[in-house]
Amino acid sequence: MEKDVVRTGYDVIATDYTTARLQNAAHPAQRSFLEELAVHLPRRAPVLDAGCGGGVPVTRWLSERFSVTGIDISDEQVRLARELVPDVQFLCRDMTVLDFPDEAFDAICCLYAMIHVPRDEHLPLLHSFNRMLRPGGFLLSCMGAGEWPGEVEEFFGAPMYWSHYDADTNLHLVQRTGFHVLRHEIVPDSLDPETASNHLFLLAQKPDAASTT
Ligand SMILES: C[S@@+](CC[C@H](N)C(=O)[O-])C[C@H]1O[C@@H](n2cnc3c(N)ncnc32)[C@H](O)[C@@H]1O
Repeated sequence: MEKDVVRTGYDVIATDYTTARLQNAAHPAQRSFLEELAVHLPRRAPVLDAGCGGGVPVTRWLSERFSVTGIDISDEQVRLARELVPDVQFLCRDMTVLDFPDEAFDAICCLYAMIHVPRDEHLPLLHSFNRMLRPGGFLLSCMGAGEWPGEVEEFFGAPMYWSHYDADTNLHLVQRTGFHVLRHEIVPDSLDPETASNHLFLLAQKPDAASTT
């Protein structure tokens, strides 16, 4: 099963991946999307980081401003995140079956993680994110930018699974879920420039109660 490949893969590569994530400067778009998200949120707003990995640099950045819950499917990533960002609550969870209450979060951040979920689950996952956001809440996501039905390949020496749609389809899915896309950008992968892969970064908003009536 694909999720077992992802879980066990990140259990094996957690330290190497997280070290590489820290050592390779992220594309400037990552910071600019995070800062744009932050403009919209009150200090200590409840934020979910879904697929948070080892908690650096993104969960840590969020936690300096907001009240963050980090979840990840990999026990080892969660263990690392608890060590590196001790003030945040981290839980080992599959983001496709989250049971946080409706409207629990002001924002959900999901960077480089949906690409590991089989793509026929992306629409239900976006619906679930929408459900967990308060009206007017924000989704900051990084999704695939090219067509990739799903395959296991090697990543940091371990088997890993990816699956995603192209950028236009992803934008359509996000809109179909009820979000307004505020901004989107195709961003080159800074961790592995040799693969020349791109990602779709997007900031989207769930309509507030007034605009849905
Ligand atoms: C490429 S890493 C990105 C980590 C972090 N978001 C970042 O920006 O550095 C992808 C992470 O998503 C997690 N992940 C993949 N599928 C998941 C799922 N179904 N539920 C929760 N976490 C998942 C992996 O375990 C891994 O830690």
